Amino acid sequence: MPEVQSRGFRAALGQFATGVTVVTTRASNGDRIGLTANSFNSASLDPPMVLWSLKNDSQNFNVFAAAGHFAVNVLAADQVEVSQRFSREVEDRFAGLECSEGIAGLPLIAGCAATFQCRNVHRYSGGDHAIFVGEVLDFEVSERVALVFHRGDYTITLPRPPDDAGHGEIAGGYVDDFLLPLLARAYRLFGLPFYEHLSERGIPRDEWRVLATLSDQSCTRDELGWVIRMPDDILDSTIASLRTHGMIADARPRGDGGAPRLVCTPTGSRRVIELLAVAKAREADVLADLPELEQQDFKRMLRSIISRLAGSQRPR
Ligand SMILES: Cc1cc2nc3c(=O)[nH]c(=O)nc-3n(C[C@H](O)[C@H](O)[C@H](O)COP(=O)(O)O)c2cc1C
Repeated sequence: MPEVQSRGFRAALGQFATGVTVVTTRASNGDRIGLTANSFNSASLDPPMVLWSLKNDSQNFNVFAAAGHFAVNVLAADQVEVSQRFSREVEDRFAGLECSEGIAGLPLIAGCAATFQCRNVHRYSGGDHAIFVGEVLDFEVSERVALVFHRGDYTITLPRPPDDAGHGEIAGGYVDDFLLPLLARAYRLFGLPFYEHLSERGIPRDEWRVLATLSDQSCTRDELGWVIRMPDDILDSTIASLRTHGMIADARPRGDGGAPRLVCTPTGSRRVIELLAVAKAREADVLADLPELEQQDFKRMLRSIISRLAGSQRPR
């Protein structure tokens, strides 16, 4: 196949999102062998059989061809490093990796999303790869989120929104495909019950934002403005009101001189602790369906957007 066409073929194949596995076996000399493979798939339910393909020039081709068994370790979302080490030239791919022993000494990697232990039953030639078919003798499945490989890169899955989530929206249009309205709507819907709680207690939202920010660390007025991104006049009146209510106070500047710093008073800190419990309960509720790793990724993405847009230079 010409070079250009071959690149296109790879790109087309890359559109098929797969999981990532490490297929392992035990060589006749007792060595543990393994490589990263995303060609794994189910072949038959009854009897239970799976398949994967191995390139003919793999340094371990002969070991797998002769092996009576192999194990398929389906990697979890936090095992990218495992995938990388089993796809690279590394002195000992198993070094420091927590493993147990399965049937016929098969190396089973700890912390995987699923594991299949197989009897190596068929091998078919398929161009520059060989297709191995295994009869599943034993398997294990965990609650861990699986790692995904798509378009030549590692990724993770996000649960699909319910069918009626897009009701009344224009598919691919401003409302459901443009980041700003998505963020704005998510922000409003997410915040609504919490902001209702604040208003029932007579606490203005801006006061909560300033107070919660100061509960993490003392800030100068300019640092506060930089973090919160609130218009200057609203920020100043909010600071004044919180000061009057004894929620925040001035602290001595750091070192010699510098701008005065604002801190939470004990009264302010108590209020933050109470309200933070309500805010955290809301967050736990909203993110309940999202696995922990995806929650972290979602927050990482938002932090990355913010730091790219805001720059990293905080005022002093
Ligand atoms: C995500 C991913 C999937 C891969 N899938 C396969 C595969 O299905 N079959 C294969 O032979 N190589 C696959 N590879 C490449 C091998 O892992 C890599 O060439 C490795 O160095 C082979 O090791 P070996 O020569 O020791 O067998 C994959 C690599 C990555 C990163």
